[in-house]
Amino acid sequence: MFPTEQFKKLRTPFYYYDTELLRRTLREIRENTDEHMHVHYAVKACANPRILSIIAQEGFGADCVSGGEIQAALQAGFPADKIVYAGVGKSDWEIELGLDAGIFAFNVESVPELEIINTLAQQKGKVARIALRINPNVGAHTHANITTGLAENKFGIDMQEMENVIALAIDMPGVCFTGLHFHIGSQILEMDDFAALCTRINELQDRLEAAGIHGIENINVGGGLGIDYKQPELHPVPDFHAYFKTYRQNLQLRPGQQLHFELGRAIAGQCGTLVSRVLYIKSNPIKNFCIVDAGMTDLIRPALYNAYHHIENLTAEDDKDFVTYDVVGPICESSDVFIKNYGMPRTSRGNLIAFRSAGAYGEIMASGYNCRTLPQGYLTEDFL
Ligand code: LLP
Repeated sequence: MFPTEQFKKLRTPFYYYDTELLRRTLREIRENTDEHMHVHYAVKACANPRILSIIAQEGFGADCVSGGEIQAALQAGFPADKIVYAGVGKSDWEIELGLDAGIFAFNVESVPELEIINTLAQQKGKVARIALRINPNVGAHTHANITTGLAENKFGIDMQEMENVIALAIDMPGVCFTGLHFHIGSQILEMDDFAALCTRINELQDRLEAAGIHGIENINVGGGLGIDYKQPELHPVPDFHAYFKTYRQNLQLRPGQQLHFELGRAIAGQCGTLVSRVLYIKSNPIKNFCIVDAGMTDLIRPALYNAYHHIENLTAEDDKDFVTYDVVGPICESSDVFIKNYGMPRTSRGNLIAFRSAGAYGEIMASGYNCRTLPQGYLTEDFL
């Protein structure tokens, strides 16, 4: 499945993106969505320019959280009118960039932000299309660091305030209120969590209509669909059928209302692999350490979220001879550990080690700590 012979010639660590799988993933999304459903790829998951270009070419929109991401999305060919822009702390220059580009919508996270967007838009003689991001206070069964839809999280505007905030927005000459935005968290595998979000949205829409607020054009339900980190081979593409069906069955859209999604991990996660080389095997009476040349600077998810990434030795001599290792990186931090007590074929210096399901929040979260160089990204096309 991997072009291992060609990998052997490359400097490690590097990211490898299986673009055939990426295209298949995008195709399955298309096959499971209707005309009124619009998917904006969450650029934060992976902003490798060539990956962005593929997703743009396939007709998807972009979900951005910074001016830099808007620039990257525009450069990759995403049309401005398919770009949505969220974030609790938008700087003035970032808002101005969005206004100049003419993006589809600012997902506004507070009243002070709404006021600034209104002012900046008026200064430019423009009208900003905005959606209000609502904190639905829905818990998701995922890691605490990646839940976003609870009242204790910093995101969005309190649901109880909506009537007032919408009235405020409607009165502002520099903004045009176009929709409601939600997002409950990431790496969510329980469809019931998304169904719970639908229930909240239904209740809110009923409430708003009772208050005389009609004709909301767009409902944006955010992203969050998870991937199978344990068995990437068995589930290379997430269950989009179940995901979109959950919304079809549970969300009561009003006539003409458009439904927007912001999927990141579900699009880019499974197609990416971090490839590294074994530097040393070191043993003491209680442990075998497999020290690789990739570290938390290249893939921070295990250190930050205790995340599991399936590890494969691509060049082991003997597949049957299993040994238990702690797989660790070279960074001067005790948390620079990919996994502890992991059984894999006997490993030796020079073997290539693959960290699977690393396409989302992998390369993009890499850092230069310890003055390390950032990992290169290669695509299937580079090995044909
Ligand atoms: N929309 C909003 C408003 C978001 O905050 C996020 C992710 C997404 C969409 C995309 O979510 P996805 O479909 O990828 O689950 N670094 C963490 C994940 C952080 C997610 C932040 N927000 C990780 O490595 O697990």
